Amino acid sequence: MNKNILLGVTGGIAIYKVVDVVSRLKKLDYNIKIIMTDSACEFVSPMTFETIGKCDVKNKMFHKNSHKIVEHIDLANWADLFLVAPASANIMAKINHGIADDLLTSTALAYTKPIMFCVSMNTNMLNNPSTQKNIEELKEKNHLIIDSNSGMLACDTKGDGRLKEPWEIVEEVENYFCKKDLKGKKVLITAGATVERIDPVRYITNDSSGKMGYSIAKKAFMRGADVTIISGKTSVDSPYGIENIKVQSAIDMKEQIESCVDDYDCLIMAAAVSDFKVKNRKDLKIKKQDGIHSLELEENPDILKSLNKKENQIFIGFAAETNNLIKNAEKKLNKKNLDYIVLNDVSKKDIGFNSEYNKVSIISKNQILELDKDTKLNIADKILDLIK
Ligand SMILES: Cc1cc2nc3c(=O)[nH]c(=O)nc-3n(C[C@H](O)[C@H](O)[C@H](O)COP(=O)(O)O)c2cc1C
Repeated sequence: MNKNILLGVTGGIAIYKVVDVVSRLKKLDYNIKIIMTDSACEFVSPMTFETIGKCDVKNKMFHKNSHKIVEHIDLANWADLFLVAPASANIMAKINHGIADDLLTSTALAYTKPIMFCVSMNTNMLNNPSTQKNIEELKEKNHLIIDSNSGMLACDTKGDGRLKEPWEIVEEVENYFCKKDLKGKKVLITAGATVERIDPVRYITNDSSGKMGYSIAKKAFMRGADVTIISGKTSVDSPYGIENIKVQSAIDMKEQIESCVDDYDCLIMAAAVSDFKVKNRKDLKIKKQDGIHSLELEENPDILKSLNKKENQIFIGFAAETNNLIKNAEKKLNKKNLDYIVLNDVSKKDIGFNSEYNKVSIISKNQILELDKDTKLNIADKILDLIK
């Protein structure tokens, strides 16, 4: 069933971004109700939120229908999540101290679950000891504080206090609703394509976009795992809130994995690692008159084969094949001492590299699980079910 989000909008200049948040939440099929403070209504007309959110926008505590229901109690009971964005210094101070002098604060007092505050204000207002104390105390009361970003502010200064971007706020909402069945697990995920330099301006790489690895990382993070990504070249944004260590070549990736893999319960190698590197690589740009007409290649070390898997660790590899799919994947599974190998057919244009979709088979020592074509995010969930 679709979740109910009660959005509290306060009087901050970043309110315009919250219109976009509402639009994104609508597209994700959340049910939305909105309360605006009087100050918020000075910045943007309720009509804007009504139109984008396709919902009523409440503002008044006392109005002509108020005898029919006790609206602030009704709204508090209706909400699966109470999101306050932008969260002004004033609203956090009032809610922290239990003040209930308008519809938003009265509803907050009647709401029994954690409230999610998306902090947004001038840097000095944020650093003021009163605001800092309110934030700390709200956290102690189990409320969720979505810290601001650092950057350019409306008052023409640079610093902390900038409201998180709409997509980041939506990620926080999605994370909130996701069940945390991977809590306590440490997962290391590689993504993207490695890059093998020919000279300072040219390189050999492959078509991997990083979407599959990033989808697994995003879902693992949402499900509560402690996630680190090691990624090569990618063409999509790094998932929200996850440490992403950038590397170039297969050797860089190998060194990075070796330095930390022992700390993880699970390694998922979704990166497309180059089998070969350039032997006659040049430190200066190769000129036409240098007369180099062929590249000498040498094999890269096999990362998975070189790792010493600990007893309780789970290693999952990927095989991108174009022919003899199952046979090649099974060979890889045994040769690299993997627990599972995820096989995808990269000869098909509508799935695999660069696509939002994939169709994979998950192969283990004693079974082959063929999954239907699905989004990479849904496939990520199926892969993560293996490490629960
Ligand atoms: C142009 C302008 C921009 C403002 N921006 C912010 C802001 O980003 N964050 C904030 O906490 N207060 C900001 N304020 C001050 C709040 O609007 C003020 O504290 C108000 O009382 C908040 O009321 P509310 O919390 O009930 O919405 C701004 C005020 C003005 C006039």
